[in-house]
Amino acid sequence: SDEELHERIRNAKKALGDRLVILGHFYQRDEVVQYADFLGDSFQLANAALTKPDAETIVFCGVHFMAETADILARPEQRVILPNLAAGCSMADMADEDSVESAWEELMELYGEEPDADGRQPVVPVTYMNSSAALKAFCGRHGGIVCTSSNASTVLEWAFERGQRVLFFPDQHLGRNTAKAMGIGLDQMPMWNPRKPLGGNTAEQLDAARVILWHGFCSVHKRFTVDQIEQARAEHLGVRVIVHPECPMPVVDAADEAGSTDYIRKAIEAGSPGDVFAIGTEVNLVNRLQAEHPDMTIFCLDPVICPCSTMYRIHPGYLAWTLDGLVEGEVRNQVSVAPDVAADARVALERMLAALP
Ligand code: 13P
Ligand code: SF4
Repeated sequence: SDEELHERIRNAKKALGDRLVILGHFYQRDEVVQYADFLGDSFQLANAALTKPDAETIVFCGVHFMAETADILARPEQRVILPNLAAGCSMADMADEDSVESAWEELMELYGEEPDADGRQPVVPVTYMNSSAALKAFCGRHGGIVCTSSNASTVLEWAFERGQRVLFFPDQHLGRNTAKAMGIGLDQMPMWNPRKPLGGNTAEQLDAARVILWHGFCSVHKRFTVDQIEQARAEHLGVRVIVHPECPMPVVDAADEAGSTDYIRKAIEAGSPGDVFAIGTEVNLVNRLQAEHPDMTIFCLDPVICPCSTMYRIHPGYLAWTLDGLVEGEVRNQVSVAPDVAADARVALERMLAALP
């Protein structure tokens, strides 16, 4: 029964004590969130992995790329467990290493490999955190960097100090929204389709490029529309519309603000009784914020429930099963990144940490 399941989790947590730390992403369901020692956005959770050096096991209630990142940043003695190994991210899967490598080769042929008179390399690769460890390692090897939705503009500034242009993957929307806010024109942001020569662009288009966008997207955030925002404004006078920057550009433009999951949470925490917020992000977070702030009205812009289906794969049953294993001395569902890949990926992650104010 459900009660037995929760009893098992509580008992295992007690038995493992400080040897265990459980991290939970904001998009996790409430039955899982209640057991998290740290709850956060993807950037905060990457840092949280560093702040518990004594815990021998990190159980990551999130998706695969987050568990990989924790393994890359954790001490070698620490191990990382993803309760359900099928919890991937469809966006991360949209950029595979081979396609990015071959795009890179084409770009190097077009732009050459030599830095300009100011020492800037022809292209700096920037990967969103939502990507495989192999792509973070690719960035580490090629003078590139990782970003999250909470620091994408700082990271792009870092990249433009070192490069004439950026190859940004996998999320086209985060790349476009961030570059646009920095004053880069849409005609300077061609999209790269890996199935076509030159990514489906002309040499002239690529010559004008400042940010070359990969064709990835988040299946949850691409559901939000301008119509939903207009409807929210028509129905709720004074509503404040905040969306995640993984939403398409017209949606971000029509919203009042765009920001990471932690930005959204903080904006609501700074609100006042009676405030109305329409939010464009995953529904588990939005519903939790409404429950935490009953004196405000907080609703998801998409009327059809839209959870992230892979985040949702972390069911309490899997959490109980992996924790039981630990109590019995058996490590189940470990995520471990090969040491050479981890070393290169760490370079790109540490560049991100060093670039932040
Ligand atoms: P943040 O946690 O960085 O806001 O990202 C949202 C997301 O889609 C995680 O997969
Ligand atoms: Fe991936 Fe989107 Fe789910 Fe985040 S919300 S884990 S980007 S599919």
